[in-house]
Amino acid sequence: MRLRGLILSGGSGTRLRPITHTGAKQLVPVANKPVLFYGLEALVAAGIDEIGIVVGDTHREIRQAVGDGSRFGARVEYIPQTQPLGLAHAVQTARAFLGTDPFVMYLGDNFIPGGISDVVAEFRKEQPDVLILLKRMPHPERFGVAVLEEGRVRQLVEKPLEPPSDLVLVGVYLFQPSILEAVDAIRPSPRGELEITDAIQWQVDRGRRVTPHVIEGPWIDTGKMDDLLECNRVVLDRLPEQRLGTVDAGSRLIGKVILEAGSQVSGSTLRGPCIIGERTRIVDAYVGPFTAIYHDVLIEASEVEHAIVLEHTVIRGARKIEDSLIGRHVVVERGIALPQAHRMMLGDHSRVELP
Ligand code: TTP
Repeated sequence: MRLRGLILSGGSGTRLRPITHTGAKQLVPVANKPVLFYGLEALVAAGIDEIGIVVGDTHREIRQAVGDGSRFGARVEYIPQTQPLGLAHAVQTARAFLGTDPFVMYLGDNFIPGGISDVVAEFRKEQPDVLILLKRMPHPERFGVAVLEEGRVRQLVEKPLEPPSDLVLVGVYLFQPSILEAVDAIRPSPRGELEITDAIQWQVDRGRRVTPHVIEGPWIDTGKMDDLLECNRVVLDRLPEQRLGTVDAGSRLIGKVILEAGSQVSGSTLRGPCIIGERTRIVDAYVGPFTAIYHDVLIEASEVEHAIVLEHTVIRGARKIEDSLIGRHVVVERGIALPQAHRMMLGDHSRVELP
């Protein structure tokens, strides 16, 4: 059975502002690799190489990062969505690409470290109308929630006040082409979106076979900062050590430290797991566990731990930065002018916590 892949990378990314004022949330790096790339790799690993990416306002950036997909061993086509009108709307938009093939829909900001090969194999074998991935979560009210009955999905509810179960929808769905009929039949929800949960429920109500696959391993929706940091932690824990940068005699590297090509460490202590990006310099500084410093960054006379720092940022003289996501071209430095004060220029929706 030939399967296509549909990755959703439109949307507005309000929960990751201000980072997403200037960039696609699907390209925020996790352990120095855009989160979208992990999804692409998971599809290819499951034997799916015809991939459509639904894109919105950030289409240029996404095209530039992914290209024609050949580097991932895939053929990638871009599908512009005029507005983020919902996941079911994205499926409608992709109709020409999907044709009459079954497909895997993958939300571009979701991350499943264990991959999706098992579930794709199950779908190929059992051929249900819909196969949804579920995970038991402590706060199901924040997600789409499923109710099962005799091994089948009976009901789906979007963000219920009183969750009927603790099984939440993970951002990967497998569909037969019959979903195209369902997405056309439903109406927009109270929040004005065409919901994929409504389209799946429409099929359940018509007796179609909608089956669940409960995943045991981690699943992370990287749409919020805390989840992104958590994802970074999980991936750094699994990566192999690599030392492609230079380290001077005055530095100490403890545990798993990954140095990408052209990185330079001097007079510093790095405690892994952490990753230092290409051409990034760490000078007289401390970088602690679960930190990913992306390319072309300077960290000098500062302490950074449990954080993600994006490209071209400078952090100089900062006593301790932790649990943080810092964007591109940011400057954080200790001022010398009196009176001592916090002087800042912050973009809209920035968040700063002072000691
Ligand atoms: P969401 O995280 O549900 O939506 P969002 O991107 O608008 O984010 P926020 O809640 O922070 O404002 O979307 C999940 C994924 O699907 C994400 O990668 C964006 C993508 N998407 C589309 O491609 N088209 C759409 O119409 C919607 C709603 C989302």
